Amino acid sequence: MKKILVINGPNLNMLGIREPGIYGEQSYDALVAFVTDVCARHGLECECFQSNHEGAIVDAIQAAYGKVDGIVINPAAYTHTSVAILDALKAVSIPAVEVHLSDVSKREAFRHVSYAGIACEATFAGYGFDGYRLAVEYLLEHHP
Ligand code: DQA
Repeated sequence: MKKILVINGPNLNMLGIREPGIYGEQSYDALVAFVTDVCARHGLECECFQSNHEGAIVDAIQAAYGKVDGIVINPAAYTHTSVAILDALKAVSIPAVEVHLSDVSKREAFRHVSYAGIACEATFAGYGFDGYRLAVEYLLEHHP
């Protein structure tokens, strides 16, 4: 594992502003700094991508083919709707781990379904920013 792509979906650019009681008070930039630091401490290169657009996320996954060794993905609301993101993850076959800041299993029923999760090796939900660290460390452990 040399390079990790961290993908964040819609509205995660609003971290710190959006529903702080659920998603915390830290900004998206703080999340990028956190994940970049985690990767650096493990000697990993890290690229962070955020988009509010489903197709842009599909494009980013496709562009990772042959260039990235692992994907950490929080597809946000697209988790629960997007077959296109699931298919993109399956198409590239890059080891992927799903992350959610909140514990989606304890929220509304529609958040209990994860399409992207079908193509992911593990899911960390409800750990806030630390879920991204757990995901990076999972990838390192299972795909050294
Ligand atoms: C989320 C959970 C999703 O249900 C929601 O739509 C999000 C964020 C999380 O990180 O907890 O936007 O993925």
